[in-house]
Amino acid sequence: MDQITRQISEIGVVPVIKLNHPERDAAPLAKALCEGGVAVAEVTFRAAGAATAIKLMKEACPDMIVGAGTVLTTVQIDEAIAAGAQFIVTPGMDPELVKYAQEKKLPIFPGCTTPTDYHTAYKLGLEVLKFFPAEQSGGLAKIKAMSAPFPMFKVMPTGGISLKNLGDYAKAPVIAACGGSYMVTADLIDNQKWAEITDLCKQSVAIVREARNG
Ligand code: 3PG
Repeated sequence: MDQITRQISEIGVVPVIKLNHPERDAAPLAKALCEGGVAVAEVTFRAAGAATAIKLMKEACPDMIVGAGTVLTTVQIDEAIAAGAQFIVTPGMDPELVKYAQEKKLPIFPGCTTPTDYHTAYKLGLEVLKFFPAEQSGGLAKIKAMSAPFPMFKVMPTGGISLKNLGDYAKAPVIAACGGSYMVTADLIDNQKWAEITDLCKQSVAIVREARNG
C-alpha cells in the first residue's frame, strides 16, 4: 500500500465534499476537518470549482491529504493533479482512468460493487477500492461476501454511511476507511457551521478508534 493510502486508512474516515463557494469555504472547511482529526478530504468534481477548492484546501492545511472525487474523465485527472490532488476517486470502474492515474503515480480508488468490477481491479493491480454506493449495494454483508473470492482487497465504502453505522463498518478488517458526506452536508457547509463539522469529525475518529481497538 502506498504512503497516501496508508495515511487515509489510518485516519479511517474520508469526508466527501461538494463545495459551491470554494473561495469562501475551502480554507475554513479544511481547518475544521483538521481540527477534528480528519486531515483528509475527497473534493468532488460534482461542483464547478472543485480544482480551486482542492488548491485552496491544500494551501490552508498543507499537511492535509486532499483528493478528487466523482472523477469521470482523464481531463479531470489532469485538472486535479494541477490543483495538487493526491488521490483520485471514481464512482465506477473505468480501466482507462485507472491506468491513466497509475501512469501519473497517483492512488486511484474506483467504485466497485460486483465480482466483475473486482476482477477488473485485480487485473489492474489495485489494492484498495471504493465500494459505492455501499448501503444501497448490500452494505457490509456484501463487502464481506466479496472478500471470499477477492481477499486481496481492502475497501472504502461510501454511500449511506453515518455516525450510526460507521462503527460496524470500521470494525471489519476489510475496511480501509469509510467515506461519507454526513459530516460535511450542504447545510453544514452553506451555513458555515465549522464547529459542528469539527465535532462530527471528532466523533467519527473516536468511533473508528473504538471499533478498531475493541
Ligand atoms: C459519494 O459520492 O461517495 C457519495 O455520494 C457519498 O454518499 P453519502 O452522501 O451517502 O455519504
